[in-house]
Amino acid sequence: MTVTNNNLLVRPATEADAGPLIGVLAEAFHEGPLAEWLIPDADERRTVYYQYFRDAFYHGVEHGQVYTTSDQTAAAIWYPRLEPTPTDTRQRLEALERIAGVYAPKFVLLEEMFDAFHPDDPHHYLAYLAVDPTRQNRGIGAALLADYHRRLDQLGLPAYLEASNTSNRRLYLRLGYTAGPTIVLPAEGPIIWRMWRGAPTTTGGRTPFPRTRPRRRSL
Ligand SMILES: CC(C)(COP(=O)(O)OP(=O)(O)OC[C@H]1O[C@@H](n2cnc3c(N)ncnc32)[C@H](O)[C@@H]1OP(=O)(O)O)[C@@H](O)C(=O)NCCC(=O)NCCS
Repeated sequence: MTVTNNNLLVRPATEADAGPLIGVLAEAFHEGPLAEWLIPDADERRTVYYQYFRDAFYHGVEHGQVYTTSDQTAAAIWYPRLEPTPTDTRQRLEALERIAGVYAPKFVLLEEMFDAFHPDDPHHYLAYLAVDPTRQNRGIGAALLADYHRRLDQLGLPAYLEASNTSNRRLYLRLGYTAGPTIVLPAEGPIIWRMWRGAPTTTGGRTPFPRTRPRRRSL
C-alpha cells in the first residue's frame, strides 16, 4: 500500500469509481499535441474524449488493472502482457467508429501504430496515466507509478508505455524508463516515445528495442 506525499492512499479502482475517474482521464488528456492532432476542435474533443475514456475505463476494470487515489483524482490503467495479445481488429474498428464518429480514422491509425510497435517480451503495459489537471505537479502521478513499479519488481516484470510529449517523458525517464525509437504519426502528427523500464531481478537493463519492422496487422 502506498501513501502519496499528499497523504492519499493508492488503491485499486472498481466500477464504482467510474464517474470521477472517466472525468479525470478525459480532462487530463484534453490538452497537448496528441489531443490536438486527434481532434482539433476543443469542444468536440471533450465530447469524444468522455466517450473514449468511458470505454477505456470499463475495459481496464474488466481486462486490466486500474489504480486510483483515495480522493479519486488520478487513474492508472495497466494491462499484463505476458504474451503477444492479438486485437480483434473488426470489433475495435466498430467501437472506435461508435465512439469517435468522423474522428475515428485517426484513433484507428494511432492504435494501429501503437499495436504494430508493441514489444513482444513479457511486461505490463501502462495504457493511461492521468491526474486531475487541478492536482498535477504534486507528486501524485509519480506515487501511482512507484506503487505499481514495486509490484512489478516483486514479480520480476518490466513495464512499457508510450510517452506522448516531452513533459511526461521527463517523468518516466526519472522513474527508470529508457526511451526507445520514436513513433512519428503521419499528417503532421506528434512524436511518440516508446519507453521501457526493465525489471532489475530478471531482465536487467535489457530493452526490447529496437524492433526494426512493425508487427502484422491492419484495421
Ligand atoms: C503526466 C501526469 C500523469 C503526471 O502526474 P503528476 O501528478 O502531475 O506528476 P508528478 O507531480 O508526480 O511529477 C511531475 C512531473 O510530471 C510531468 N508532468 C506534469 N504535468 C504534466 C502535464 N500536464 N503533461 C505531461 N506531463 C506532466 C512532468 O515531467 C513533471 O516534472 P517536471 O517538474 O520535470 O516538469 C499528469 O501530469 C497528467 O495527467 N498529465 C496529462 C496526461 C498525460 O500526459 N498522461 C501521461 C500520458 S503518457
